[in-house]
Amino acid sequence: MFLGALFRLLLLSTPIICAAPSGPWDQFNLAPGSRIVHPKAIHNLSGTVENAINLLANGSATLSGNGSYVTLDFGQEVGGFISLNFDEVTPRSSIALSFTESPLFISPLTSDDSAVQDANMSYDGVLPITAPIETTFYTMPSYRLRGGFRYLTLVSTSESYVTISNVSCAISFMPHVEDLRNYTGYFYVSDTESEYADFLTRLWYSGAYTVQTVTIAADTGRKDPPAPSPGWYNNATAATASPVVVDGAKRGRAVWSADMHVAVATEFVSTNDIIPSRNALSTLFSELNQETGQMPYSGPPLSEQGSDTYQAWTLIGTYDYVLYSGDLTWLESTWSNYTKALQFLANKVDSTGLLYVTGTGDWGRLYQGGYNSEANAIYYKALTNSADLANWLNYTTLAAEYATNALALKTRFNDAFWSDSKGMYRDNLTSTLYPQDANSLAVIFNLTTSMEQASSISEGLTRHWNEYGSVAPELPDTIAPFIGGFELAAHFVSGNDARAMELLRLEWGYMLNTSISVQSTLLEGYTSNGSLYFRSTDGYDYDASFTSHSHGWSSGPTASLTFYVLGLTVTSPQGETWSVAPHTSGLSSVQGGFETPLGWFGVEWSSDDDTFNMTISTPEGTNGVVFLPTDGAVLIDGSEYGDNSTLLLDGGNHTILVQSR
Ligand SMILES: *[C@@H]1O[C@H](CO)[C@@H](O)[C@H](O)[C@H]1NC(C)=O
Ligand SMILES: *[C@@H]1O[C@H](CO)[C@@H](O)[C@H](O)[C@H]1NC(C)=O
Ligand SMILES: *[C@@H]1O[C@H](CO)[C@@H](O)[C@H](O)[C@H]1NC(C)=O
Ligand SMILES: *[C@@H]1O[C@H](CO)[C@@H](O)[C@H](O)[C@H]1NC(C)=O
Ligand SMILES: *[C@@H]1O[C@H](CO)[C@@H](O)[C@H](O)[C@H]1NC(C)=O
Ligand SMILES: *[C@@H]1O[C@H](CO)[C@@H](O)[C@H](O)[C@H]1NC(C)=O
Ligand SMILES: *[C@@H]1O[C@H](CO)[C@@H](O)[C@H](O)[C@H]1NC(C)=O
Ligand SMILES: *[C@@H]1O[C@H](CO)[C@@H](O)[C@H](O)[C@H]1NC(C)=O
Ligand SMILES: *[C@@H]1O[C@H](CO)[C@@H](O)[C@H](O)[C@H]1NC(C)=O
Ligand SMILES: *[C@@H]1O[C@H](CO)[C@@H](O)[C@H](O)[C@H]1NC(C)=O
Ligand SMILES: *[C@@H]1O[C@H](CO)[C@@H](O)[C@H](O)[C@H]1NC(C)=O
Ligand SMILES: *[C@@H]1O[C@H](CO)[C@@H](O)[C@H](O)[C@H]1NC(C)=O
Repeated sequence: MFLGALFRLLLLSTPIICAAPSGPWDQFNLAPGSRIVHPKAIHNLSGTVENAINLLANGSATLSGNGSYVTLDFGQEVGGFISLNFDEVTPRSSIALSFTESPLFISPLTSDDSAVQDANMSYDGVLPITAPIETTFYTMPSYRLRGGFRYLTLVSTSESYVTISNVSCAISFMPHVEDLRNYTGYFYVSDTESEYADFLTRLWYSGAYTVQTVTIAADTGRKDPPAPSPGWYNNATAATASPVVVDGAKRGRAVWSADMHVAVATEFVSTNDIIPSRNALSTLFSELNQETGQMPYSGPPLSEQGSDTYQAWTLIGTYDYVLYSGDLTWLESTWSNYTKALQFLANKVDSTGLLYVTGTGDWGRLYQGGYNSEANAIYYKALTNSADLANWLNYTTLAAEYATNALALKTRFNDAFWSDSKGMYRDNLTSTLYPQDANSLAVIFNLTTSMEQASSISEGLTRHWNEYGSVAPELPDTIAPFIGGFELAAHFVSGNDARAMELLRLEWGYMLNTSISVQSTLLEGYTSNGSLYFRSTDGYDYDASFTSHSHGWSSGPTASLTFYVLGLTVTSPQGETWSVAPHTSGLSSVQGGFETPLGWFGVEWSSDDDTFNMTISTPEGTNGVVFLPTDGAVLIDGSEYGDNSTLLLDGGNHTILVQSR
């Protein structure tokens, strides 16, 4: 045990360090330059507030009379502990603080909902600072941490006056990192003429920052059962090790395995801060039932049981973490639990050859259960991943067995769910619904058997688009960017890049720009008319102010921009093998890269009617395959290569030029 831990420590603490190069992309990085942030603007004033503007310049402001308030705007999503100075108070002076992500819920009487969903939006209430105020420097108690907000309202709650200054927020997320802007990866559309240029770069950084805001100290989870109203407590233990990646910043502040699958890819391409994902996985594995192999599908204090799809996402997350980190030592130590967890799912495959879902918990969709195509697609991915993981541990017989099972399932999946007339997969054997989740996942997990089939799905998915994005038929009236991220990847994988760009513009363009959100991090979900509301399986009682405005599961585009548009991915642990397959998507030049413990991986390409020019930089000792997006005469490092658009390259620096004929 001790040697294993020591080896892991050595393995993970001796990477070749390379931060991303600096450049014009840095201005898109939303992470604050300091862990202490200050308000950027006065959003609103009511009653008698003198010199409010001073609060932006570390001067004093005075609130007089019961109900007078000032609303401060931090300019973007932040989270943590508010401090302020009390410069002058009377024995009767008192104030209260209230918080909200959306400006729609600014109120001196209550915060937006984080503790419970509550149709009256009154549960959380305010944080009172009661008379007599005896301190000159106040900081919120730690259990009252507010994990996500943009607007802070300070209201006088007595007839007296109070003079305050030095209002700040000590950022609580990414507790293990001093310099929040110290990214290891970057992405930049240098083609500034493109209508997508700034938007795509901004979106990449928005997803990265979103995941930073959901990387929290393990002892700052959301309390469950909730704090008594009015109030909220964020001092629950959310993981067995710290820090940990959770679902949302404001709420729910708990581990969810499907959310983690999206977040870990975002972490990898932006900060390479993936230990928080390993801690999330270890937390779920630590609660595995040794008899049945079942794990909870959310972390503590929820530890909810009963989701076959999330059981499979935990296994897929394990693969993600090992692929990016190369941490085979951790995999080996988890392998006994991992295989039991996989067997739990295998036991649900009956004589039809399909998995029969009995644990119906899922991402919020309706109709889960029985021979469901989404669940079978996710299980298929868990099987193909398990074959790779077993191979990496040299369990070749087991790997072959998993691969055989996967192949059999692929055949059954297509026989059972494919509809020739619709050109899409059905939700289940008898359904007339063609869901966004199963169809998107089938394309990206390679359950399709031809490019034509994948393309037909890509086209079919657009039937549910409106001006705000792609509405999920399996969760009517709802736009779910978690599933939207899979749809986005499906358009790229099927070669429909223009569709991918259009979906980004509609769905993520809406989230980033709408004035009812925080214009920095990404919404959990919203209704098909763009209003704030994320429907849950228990019906339409999910109050709009409960919706999270910073949810890691919506950050899919960050990794997709790196993996598909830039085209750079790793195909074995730490990038010992890699792939470069740019999707130019109408852009003329893009650059970016990331690091792994092996070193720096970077790509720069430019494209016009006559030439495609690309430089690739990867560590010595690695090798990869390059799929060129255009046909023509290929020069590699100045030497003629021929007309083949698939190249095998060794690590190092290479320049590739393609001249169309
Ligand atoms: C801002 O204050 C004005 C009155 O001063 C009020 O009408 C308005 O509703 C307030 N808006 C918010 C968002 O608090
Ligand atoms: C302040 O006003 C609120 C309602 O407007 C009231 O409930 C409260 O008692 C008042 N406080 C004082 C100290 O007058
Ligand atoms: C703001 O002023 C107070 C004194 O009034 C000082 O203690 C504090 O350090 C100042 N903060 C900043 C950010 O300058
Ligand atoms: C930035 O991150 C790298 C690791 O990727 C680390 O070596 C370096 O010390 C960090 N720099 C700062 C200023 O935090
Ligand atoms: C959370 O804080 C509340 C209020 O101070 C306290 O009663 C409770 O014991 C704390 N819980 C934990 C797990 O520390
Ligand atoms: C495996 O599961 C058991 C609970 O069944 C847990 O005690 C143990 O910590 C887990 N081990 C690993 C490495 O996940
Ligand atoms: C698997 O086998 C290869 C070749 O013998 C060896 O280099 C590698 O270290 C082994 N991997 C593990 C995890 O044992
Ligand atoms: C199949 O899907 C439909 C929705 O299209 C749903 O109403 C039905 O309950 C599902 N069947 C099973 C067995 O879950
Ligand atoms: C997709 O699956 C087929 C087998 O069904 C396999 O031949 C092919 O290599 C797979 N493609 C990828 C990219 O894994
Ligand atoms: C290709 O790109 C490299 C690096 O950006 C540049 O130095 C070179 O001049 C370009 N070549 C052509 C033919 O455009
Ligand atoms: C192109 O190159 C790849 C990789 O070297 C090779 O597998 C493939 O057979 C080549 N195709 C043609 C048409 O030469
Ligand atoms: C690739 O080029 C960069 C500078 O552009 C250099 O720092 C690095 O050492 C080169 N890598 C290799 C393997 O030659």
